[in-house]
Amino acid sequence: MNKARQLNEIHSKWFKDCVCELQKTATQPVPGVGNPEARIVFIGEAPGKDEDEQGQPFVGRAGKFLNEMLTSIGMKREDVYITNTVKYRPPNNRDPLPEEKSACYHWLADELNCIQPKLIVTLGRHALSNFVPEARISDVHGKVLKKRGHLHLADGNSIVLSTEYFFPLYHPAAAMYNGDLRKVIIEDFKKIPEILKNYAASREV
Ligand code: URA
Repeated sequence: MNKARQLNEIHSKWFKDCVCELQKTATQPVPGVGNPEARIVFIGEAPGKDEDEQGQPFVGRAGKFLNEMLTSIGMKREDVYITNTVKYRPPNNRDPLPEEKSACYHWLADELNCIQPKLIVTLGRHALSNFVPEARISDVHGKVLKKRGHLHLADGNSIVLSTEYFFPLYHPAAAMYNGDLRKVIIEDFKKIPEILKNYAASREV
């Protein structure tokens, strides 16, 4: 089965089976979108108001900023895969709780293990903490981290991922209206093509 069909099946399954409590208040789930063959996956925190309304990740103001940065490195949304840690909007955009993240990790892990990206770009400290809980974003943004990917579940188990390279960025929503952070994220973003060339040239693991 090709990856596009596999991803559709993954989304259909988790539309039914996801046990995240946030579905009680969200309008709809927001699955990842993009190229199933992408070598790079961007992971945010959680859908906001626009995403909750439209059912697609990063379609609001932060998403427009993300699109601009993709354009600046000669990429389009269709070249990459974009998803979130949790698939439902938290009420009033509060931080997702550990158990909400854990409930959505199965969906995220299925997306990642289907696509098997060479590079995972984490957007913001929440997305970073999924994979590298000990790291501080102010120390590691704009640096490639090599680590076997794991998602740690609330019950103490973890899901192993095939991806080994992580590239943490500040969250576009946090950076877009903050002059200093905006410069930092734009500069960090420009490193992506070189990183893909150096660390993620082939699809073989
Ligand atoms: N912020 C996120 O983390 N994800 C979105 O989809 C939109 C804003």
